[in-house]
Amino acid sequence: MFLTKEEERVLSGYEGEAKRLAMELVVRVGEALGAPRLVKVSHAHVSGISYDNIGEEGLQFIRELVELKARVSVFSTFNPAGVPLELDEPYNPLKSDPHFVSKQLEIVAALEKMGFVYSATCTPYELRPPKPGEHLAWGESSAVAVANTLYGAKTNREGGPIALAAAIVGRTYYWGLHVPENRRANSMVVVYTNGGPLDELYAGLLGYLVGEALSDTVPYVRARFRGKKSIISLCAASAASGNIGMCIVEKVSPDDRGPPLHPVEKLTLEMKDLERKREEISTASLDEAELFFTGCPHHGVGYVYEILDYMSSKGYSRLTRPMWIAVRADQREVRELARRLAEKNIFLLPGTCLVVSRFQRLASAIATDSLKSAFYLPRRHGVRVALSTAKAFVDSYGV
Ligand code: F3S
Repeated sequence: MFLTKEEERVLSGYEGEAKRLAMELVVRVGEALGAPRLVKVSHAHVSGISYDNIGEEGLQFIRELVELKARVSVFSTFNPAGVPLELDEPYNPLKSDPHFVSKQLEIVAALEKMGFVYSATCTPYELRPPKPGEHLAWGESSAVAVANTLYGAKTNREGGPIALAAAIVGRTYYWGLHVPENRRANSMVVVYTNGGPLDELYAGLLGYLVGEALSDTVPYVRARFRGKKSIISLCAASAASGNIGMCIVEKVSPDDRGPPLHPVEKLTLEMKDLERKREEISTASLDEAELFFTGCPHHGVGYVYEILDYMSSKGYSRLTRPMWIAVRADQREVRELARRLAEKNIFLLPGTCLVVSRFQRLASAIATDSLKSAFYLPRRHGVRVALSTAKAFVDSYGV
């Protein structure tokens, strides 16, 4: 692999052992993949930082990096933790195990010591929206798909250690979706919606189908979406059910250069296909759901106020079944808001989510509007899922 003088210098250890180790990791992986060179990144985002995920071994690796005085050299953020952050324990619906909490907080503190922005979110694009053409080293599958699809930035789906190394050296290997030729659409999706645009739930169903049918391609998607959140939902679901790192959404994606002339696969869908998928995924009814979970990917607190406005417009003061909302932890009002919401039977999960956290018993059935959660919750926690919108849940359980 070609390295610049500066990169050679780092690799030779002139800038310390932490940088040398990080550079070695990035170069080794790049060489194994056949990358010709490295590329500078402007933002690194590390996923898999839940203690449940990295365990004692991963924590030890992070401790060693801190001892070696590792520092990030670019804007760097990290994914949700395994426990809620910024929450007083009585308002924590997960009732987290104190031993687990202390390990998790040590991981977060170590990342901050290295210079990571206090983030704990899977929506790093809300903290620093990427610019078109910018190179990134991100590790969260939904965020990767959003960065490539919606922002026209360039990132592969990096594993946790590589994204961490990229944060330290500010480089990743020039390969995959960093290379312009690999960002051209090579499969085609056409959706006949018979009218209105796809909302978040239906955009997620579309993403789920796209991921299953067109994994490892760059699909060109011709459909109408209701705003940015629906496209985020498409991205998150397609990255969960299949290995989709990027879609080209017609007239939306900065990389849109028109549909592929010779698509390797073509998927034509109607609303009835999305309905059929909804029935197939819904293994529980709304009646059976013990709670509603939303915020996968994370919501900002603005969403919480939307729910409260909706409840008050309907004259409801509380819910008879709980609603759990995963939100970013960096927002100042989270702690106070969590207190106020508890009396309405609404609970916040700041800086975490149900997929990456640990608990003794979650529920036997959960309602959600997230297709990514609908993909992972049955597989990781054995729960049955009812696909529903938050408003439908509020209408069923508001009093
Ligand atoms: Fe985010 Fe957790 Fe979903 S990390 S995308 S809320 S699975």
